[in-house]
Amino acid sequence: MEIRRIEDRGGKEILTKYYDGIHFPPIVIGNVKDHLEALRNLKHKNGDVIIDTFPKSGTHWTYEILHMLQNGKADYNMNPSMILEFESIDTLDNLDGPRTLKSHLYPKHIPKSLIDKKCKIIHIYRNPKDVAVSMHSFMSRINVGDMKGYKGTWEHFFDLFVTKPLAYNTWFQHVKSWLDFKKTNPDLPILIMSYEDMKKDLRGCVQKMAEHLGAKQDPEFLDEVASKCQFSAMSKAQSSNNKETSMSRDGSNPFYRKGDVGDWKNWLTVAQNEMYDKVIEENMAGIDLEVKYTL
Ligand code: A3P
Repeated sequence: MEIRRIEDRGGKEILTKYYDGIHFPPIVIGNVKDHLEALRNLKHKNGDVIIDTFPKSGTHWTYEILHMLQNGKADYNMNPSMILEFESIDTLDNLDGPRTLKSHLYPKHIPKSLIDKKCKIIHIYRNPKDVAVSMHSFMSRINVGDMKGYKGTWEHFFDLFVTKPLAYNTWFQHVKSWLDFKKTNPDLPILIMSYEDMKKDLRGCVQKMAEHLGAKQDPEFLDEVASKCQFSAMSKAQSSNNKETSMSRDGSNPFYRKGDVGDWKNWLTVAQNEMYDKVIEENMAGIDLEVKYTL
């Protein structure tokens, strides 16, 4: 593992831990290698579910929905476990089953027992323009471990996002790895959904997730889950989540901001947008997905 310092044009840095061809955020435990090996051997618990996303694609949103569905109660989890690769093995082992696990790992690093036991997997993807905007805000607000809050401008961050692999490498590599994994493992229960579809029809997506999990599908319960997981309700409830607010520089919950589709239009200049459209076109080969940039 090497610590990589990725510098933007203004001299502001983003740190990553580079291992096995992938840049990880510095809060992945230890030298990454040992933690990934220990995670690879994590013991499965009956009914475990795992959400995997590229960062800023709606991980916390989906976690809350799945947690409610798994537990049959539309109650927020105010003490959620963190991303798999940021938690100690003891903490993960001590969580009561069935667990709602969340991760940004590539398929090759997902715990083997979860794959072998065919645990339900949900992969959420979000259009990369909104991901870039969300990530800049998050990186600027976060203050945990070696992630001390990125100090660079939007312009400089976007330049890095487009030209350099940052945490979990590029959006294209990450999304493609999961699509390929699903294609080559047709027997595994992997549901792929988009953030944009969840915004457009949350109730319908909650229903699909419940079907995928084999969870209770009583219409009133699913209505309640969808209603509690609307951005306004969920971000209000989670604004008093001390575990998460303690991770931000300003005491707000850094995992909630605007929760919209198409906010990138307020951030990307015409020139940035045209340039990124070309990058997207060049990199979409083999990514057989409909990516919606507006609703
Ligand atoms: P924005 O920064 O665009 O608002 P993650 O959980 O993967 O870190 O993703 C964070 C993004 O999901 C943030 O996007 C956050 O506001 C958004 N989000 C969180 N809860 C949401 C909800 N209930 N509905 C829609 N978006 C939500």
